[in-house]
Amino acid sequence: AKDKEMIRDSWERLGKNKLTHGTIMFTRLFELDPELLGLFHYNTPYSSPQECLSSPEFVDHINKVMLVVDAAVTHLDNLHSLEEYLVNLGRKHQAVGVQTQSFAAVGESLLYMLERSLGPAYTSTLRHAWLTLYSVVVEAMSSGWTK
Ligand code: HEM
Repeated sequence: AKDKEMIRDSWERLGKNKLTHGTIMFTRLFELDPELLGLFHYNTPYSSPQECLSSPEFVDHINKVMLVVDAAVTHLDNLHSLEEYLVNLGRKHQAVGVQTQSFAAVGESLLYMLERSLGPAYTSTLRHAWLTLYSVVVEAMSSGWTK
């Protein structure tokens, strides 16, 4: 219960404009795994992370990711209700060539963003709470992968 409160508080603390934070997260992701850039090719492949991060289609994807995180935070008490949606979302990511192993770097990028954005409010207890939530989301998405 304490964990959920911490997560809600910290998410609210990021403010209304989640795009800024999502951009920090994806900038970090491309540092950790530059090859992921190649999976975002809406029309033509991007030649640099900067080009990708400033394209409208990619900005849309950042917003989509932040909305899913927002939904998870909102449904902390009944994450189960998101399961079907997340499994289906996983299926879509398999279809665009994402590999489940990449979710580790995504998780690291999420934590990096929280650390940067929250400053001293980012504690090891908070980090742990977010890791737990993130692993539930990844678990559900990953079950959408089929061989
Ligand atoms: C859709 C790539 C991680 C949420 C997509 C699409 C691509 C993509 C190429 C289709 C085009 C688009 O809608 O922009 C990736 C890659 C990821 C990643 C390479 C990291 C390795 C995530 C994560 C979330 C997420 C972590 C949320 C937790 C979404 C949503 C859509 C989407 C909501 C739209 C699905 C729909 O059309 O119904 N992603 N994604 N993505 N992604 Fe991701």
